Amino acid sequence: MINCGIIGTGSIANWHVLAIRETGLGKVIGACSKSKPSLISFCEKYMITAYESYDDMLADENIQVIIICTPSGLHYDHILKAAKARKHIVVEKPMAISSKQWDEIIFILKKYQVTLAIAYQSRFNKSFIKVKKAIDEGILGNIMFADVYMKFYRTSDYYQQSSWKGTWKLDGGGALMNQGSHGVVSSLNNYHKL
Ligand SMILES: NC(=O)c1ccc[n+]([C@@H]2O[C@H](COP(=O)([O-])OP(=O)(O)OC[C@H]3O[C@@H](n4cnc5c(N)ncnc54)[C@H](O)[C@@H]3O)[C@@H](O)[C@H]2O)c1
Repeated sequence: MINCGIIGTGSIANWHVLAIRETGLGKVIGACSKSKPSLISFCEKYMITAYESYDDMLADENIQVIIICTPSGLHYDHILKAAKARKHIVVEKPMAISSKQWDEIIFILKKYQVTLAIAYQSRFNKSFIKVKKAIDEGILGNIMFADVYMKFYRTSDYYQQSSWKGTWKLDGGGALMNQGSHGVVSSLNNYHKL
């Protein structure tokens, strides 16, 4: 069993606890968060440890994997800390909000020999798998160019729910960086396989 700890106990964190449980291969044993009320109710709900701080959670030797569910603009710092503590990482998308941060993260992961996965769940959609198979088998030829059309819409209520959403500093932009990164990165994954 792989023991995981979550940082950030907002809306997406719940899905990680449930998805990991379903695999039967690991479990979330604790969490930490900036918002204490949300941390307490999250930890009571899943009957897991509430850590006082991220440093405390990283210091727990029983944890092998850190799951980062904080606002996107904080992922970079949280990844660096986890890697330095020699924890493997699952980070919510996007991994970071600038290409400079992406490059630095890749360097750090290699340096500390830790593995990182980004939560791009579209990879498991049947249609994506079908397209990837077609590319791998050469059915679509040599892909030179790809378009992504994503008709996503979020109401202003969505942007009011969390103060960081839609801000340059913590979201890295708007719908393209947030929702659009699913489509862009999935296309790039296929492209890099060529
Ligand atoms: N894969 C997907 O489809 C999907 C869907 C929704 C969100 N996300 C991603 O998940 C991440 C979180 O989104 P959300 O909707 O759960 O946000 P949210 O606002 O609901 O939750 C963020 C959590 O992070 C905590 N937090 C903020 N600053 C912190 C800090 N410095 N240290 C520790 N905790 C801190 C907050 O207290 C809160 O509990 C974002 O990167 C977002 O892009 C991915």
